[in-house]
Amino acid sequence: MTAEKNSAAVNGRPVWAEISLSALTHNLHAIRDFVNPKSEKRAAPRKVLAIVKGNGYGHGGPQVAKALEKAGSDWFGVTSAAEGEQLRKAGVRKPILALTSFWPGEEAQLLKHKIAPAVIRCEQLAALESAAARRKLTQRSVAFHLKIDTGMNRLGIAPTDIDCFARQYEKCQHLKLEGVFTHFASSEVFQGPVASQTREQEENFHRAVARLRTLGIDPGLIHLANSAAIATRPETWADMVRPGAILYGYHPGYDPIERRAEAEKQLPLRPVMSLRTRIINIRQVPAGSGVGYNAKFVAERPSKIAVVAAGYGDGIHRSLGNKGNVLIRGVLAPIVGIISMDVTMVDVTSVPDVVLGDIATIYGPDGQDSSNVLPANLVARSIGTVTSDLLCAVSARVPRLYLK
Ligand SMILES: Cc1ncc(COP(=O)(O)O)c(C=O)c1O
Repeated sequence: MTAEKNSAAVNGRPVWAEISLSALTHNLHAIRDFVNPKSEKRAAPRKVLAIVKGNGYGHGGPQVAKALEKAGSDWFGVTSAAEGEQLRKAGVRKPILALTSFWPGEEAQLLKHKIAPAVIRCEQLAALESAAARRKLTQRSVAFHLKIDTGMNRLGIAPTDIDCFARQYEKCQHLKLEGVFTHFASSEVFQGPVASQTREQEENFHRAVARLRTLGIDPGLIHLANSAAIATRPETWADMVRPGAILYGYHPGYDPIERRAEAEKQLPLRPVMSLRTRIINIRQVPAGSGVGYNAKFVAERPSKIAVVAAGYGDGIHRSLGNKGNVLIRGVLAPIVGIISMDVTMVDVTSVPDVVLGDIATIYGPDGQDSSNVLPANLVARSIGTVTSDLLCAVSARVPRLYLK
């Protein structure tokens, strides 16, 4: 038997992430069509702001943004001036929003690369205005979005600060309010104590926007919806939506979980990343023998244990030790023992014909056969985390292979 070859070529240590650009483009188009139903008459189609922060949820921010720009994304969301600059350097021309606002010192970089910041405190207007004046920019040429904290108690101005914002904004000749937004704390939750939170956040938001209008300020683009709201709450779509997780192929963890099947049916997505490695060692382990650090797995029967070339230093979540699985030759093989930094042990006793060099898929589609998938959202749920945590964790030393 020879080792499986169902993969893109990678040189050197065999751990890599296959990024399917066709799956990514499919997801963008699916989202755009979903939020622009043919039955609805709107003067302008709803825009899509693709969230590419966190290195494009681990997929490679600049590469993903380039592909999405070509596929028609209207806007991009990053976290900082530095992430925005990376996109500009890769040639992205569409507007970019720095969602997490800016820290003193980031203003020049934002202005230089035409990255619109989120303003989350009124006094930031003066800092932005001074930076624009220093660069001798023209009037109303520096775009920003106002973030309103409608109940998450994280980032954004309080709805009660709208009047203060309006007074400060009037003094800033260089600045232009291009959009107003908020972020939902629990849009995936439909039961329990926070079931009504999204509705309350929406109401707070619309009241704040109405106050802005009363004060004579045009709010520009109105946007609220993250992945869960896009998939399940059409009343939140407004002028633009901000997909993160769904862009990369995964619905969030709805509560109750039964909501998932319905959401997946209405908005079918394709996982974009497949994290893969190869078996670099196989050994027969007698019953009663311990495997890995602290012998946290003890073979109950004579076992065939494979070592794959990926560990927590590559982004495999350490809590998958003795808990998760990988896909080898289309078979789910259990991870055994503690996950090391560079390698992980897998019980391959039940995998027919397994040999050194076989590919192990850690999350995502198992090669070209898209019917065989180890979905990252199920892996995440099994260890009590979210899909984005697993995807963002794929480390810098893992080469990303972009497949058309
Ligand atoms: C302001 C904002 N909008 C949208 C998103 C995308 O969220 P999701 O991945 O749930 O779509 C995020 C992600 O954290 C965010 O911070």
